Amino acid sequence: MPVMMNKDLLQFHLQGQNVSYIFHVMENGQLGQLYYGKKLRDRADFSHLSKRETRVASSYIEEDPSFSLDLIKQEYPGYGTSDYREPAFQIQQPDGSRISNFTYRSFELVKGKPELPSLPATYVEKEDEAETLLIYLEDAYTNLALTLMYTVYHDRDVIVRSSSFKNNGDLTHEIKRAHSASVDFPDADYEMLQLSGSWSRERHIHERRLMPGVQSIQSTRGTSSSQHNPFLALKRPMTTEHNGEVYGFSLVYSGNFSAQVEVDHYHTSRVTMGINPFDFSWKLNGGEHFQTPEVVMAYSHNGINELSRTYHELYRSRLARGVWRDTERPVLLNNWEATYFDFDEDKLLNIARKAKKTGVELFVLDDGWFGKRNDDKTSLGDWFVDSAKLPNGLPTLVRQINDLGMMFGLWFEPEMISKESELYRKHPEWVIQVPGRSHSIGRHQLILDFTNSEVVDYIYERMAGLLTESNIEYVKWDMNRYMTEVGSLQLHSDQQAEVPHRYILGVYDLYERLIAAFPHVLFESCASGGARFDPGMLYYAPQGWTSDDTDAIERLSIQYGTSMVYPLSSMGAHVSAVPNHQVKRITTLDTRANVAYFGAFGYELDVTKMSDDELNQMEHQIDWYKENRTLLQYGTFFRLLSPFQNGGNETSWMVVSQDQKKAIVGYYQVLAEPNPGFKRLLLHGLDKEQEYCVSGYKETFFGDELMSAGLQLSSGYDGSQTGGLEESGDYSSHVFVLTGVDQGRGDKS
Ligand code: DGJ
Repeated sequence: MPVMMNKDLLQFHLQGQNVSYIFHVMENGQLGQLYYGKKLRDRADFSHLSKRETRVASSYIEEDPSFSLDLIKQEYPGYGTSDYREPAFQIQQPDGSRISNFTYRSFELVKGKPELPSLPATYVEKEDEAETLLIYLEDAYTNLALTLMYTVYHDRDVIVRSSSFKNNGDLTHEIKRAHSASVDFPDADYEMLQLSGSWSRERHIHERRLMPGVQSIQSTRGTSSSQHNPFLALKRPMTTEHNGEVYGFSLVYSGNFSAQVEVDHYHTSRVTMGINPFDFSWKLNGGEHFQTPEVVMAYSHNGINELSRTYHELYRSRLARGVWRDTERPVLLNNWEATYFDFDEDKLLNIARKAKKTGVELFVLDDGWFGKRNDDKTSLGDWFVDSAKLPNGLPTLVRQINDLGMMFGLWFEPEMISKESELYRKHPEWVIQVPGRSHSIGRHQLILDFTNSEVVDYIYERMAGLLTESNIEYVKWDMNRYMTEVGSLQLHSDQQAEVPHRYILGVYDLYERLIAAFPHVLFESCASGGARFDPGMLYYAPQGWTSDDTDAIERLSIQYGTSMVYPLSSMGAHVSAVPNHQVKRITTLDTRANVAYFGAFGYELDVTKMSDDELNQMEHQIDWYKENRTLLQYGTFFRLLSPFQNGGNETSWMVVSQDQKKAIVGYYQVLAEPNPGFKRLLLHGLDKEQEYCVSGYKETFFGDELMSAGLQLSSGYDGSQTGGLEESGDYSSHVFVLTGVDQGRGDKS
């Protein structure tokens, strides 16, 4: 029973596999928090867990000085009635008041998990996987209703929360802020972990000790952004990858978000997460309803790695959807870094033919195939093939690629429009804009007004037409600029602050229609690389382009940080040419592949310029990946050595098969060390009773030995090798394959 309750005391106990979340209805009818953390046994009354202490404060109930909302842990707090902390919501009423008082009316317990209208969300396949508790509250004075939704999965340590408002009156109200969830923690002895960066260095791990005041991350850019991912974790200072308590908060949303922790004057911490209230408001007319996106709250008392595995398993199997969710992803070759805009049919076919010989399964035609797109200044919106480059048309090219025995994939940037385009000449009003103001330009392009269904319909028709006329089995959906001059010509003046949220609903709508009409197509989301790599996108596109940065060494930090929340099957990872196009670094083909194996693997280089030796090596890499890809894409992932710690010179990670008979370990060293110290790598997730062969080692090892004594990595510095690493020098890497002795050896190379 994941949801238990005391109906007299109105206490609710949500219990996951190892987690408890307990709240109650307080004497003023509002909801108070009692506990969130390691699983507790159920009992009739938990009120003693949150005994009130009196302090000098404004009291909400005159007769009870201890009842100040400023002193009380709450579920979904408002501002203005004795709580001075960041509120979860704020609604402006027709009389100008921003005070609300949502009090408990009733609850409902439903099996499974209801869908969220028009929003991406985690789901269940069978009703008995989860239970959902709906708490109905009402503000009698305004006639507004609030529903708080909590889903608890039976065998996961996850609680999913969202909220929705309904206007049951006739007057129009304005939602100024509607977070998805708010959680009050009783102390502040935590570190906040966030995934931040910028273009080409996305999702680096940053940690800071909580301090009094608000610590926050946000996006105001119209997408979740590469600057901050919609995720934060609170961990105890002693928590490590494999020990200690950690709470994760991950927002299933792709637009402007905010996530913050406020430490107050009594050392409590309030986490709030949801749509960014900055530059947001939403008109709620009589009879209307507003649904927030959901926050997935995961918990672990066994360290951050376990928290990540909880997210990986949920997002891989109950957020991603469609046939590709559980299907091995094809090895692809993308022509972007191979040709950029400079290609024609012959050049593409030459690349494809060579690629096919090495075992590539999917050929992806990136930017530049439409309109007059010879550089990034023109043609977005003109989704008609460029007959100068492809005179025989797209269907012919696709057929020729298919005849080679490869799938064909195509790049789109559906949300964008170039000023220099037929579409802009015809429909300048279809652009996100503020009348009378100039248009800031990003990559020479403007953003289509996806709040306007006419625009979304048009783009749908164009894309659907192309997907129907050719056998296109993969779509790379790009998005290459952030929003400016945020406004829509088709919305009334008092709805302009709704644009960013309405825009992202338009994006979700287009995705939904396309995946419904073309369920066999594998979608890969992209936004200048990883600027919209978020759980919202995963609902539509089971993989995303992790970063435009394809340098193997940069990718260590990017993929390591991304793995905090997102499964390997979701991370597009390609081998590219050297010197690398982003950082000019030269790494071996081996190291480039050894990093890219841990993701949805592919190549992004001109195979016609590779030597026979390199092509041979590529063929071996692809063979090896295909042999191991179920494990690499769907195995259980463990981080071993962090590029963000101890100087960052070493990174290591591994995946283990479900039955623990097989594992693959990646080990990477940035700079060579003179006369290095002795090194042992402690592995994780193995069966301690299982005897393993390890590629490159003559001996066999039991799982307990590999996890407790470790794998000896260093070898003789004089060059004599007795096993372990055979490479030295900068940017070296090694992939070890562990196979149960009863399974035979699975050596790599
Ligand atoms: C940005 C993407 O991240 C790249 O992979 C590539 O598709 C370019 N856009 C094309 O313009």
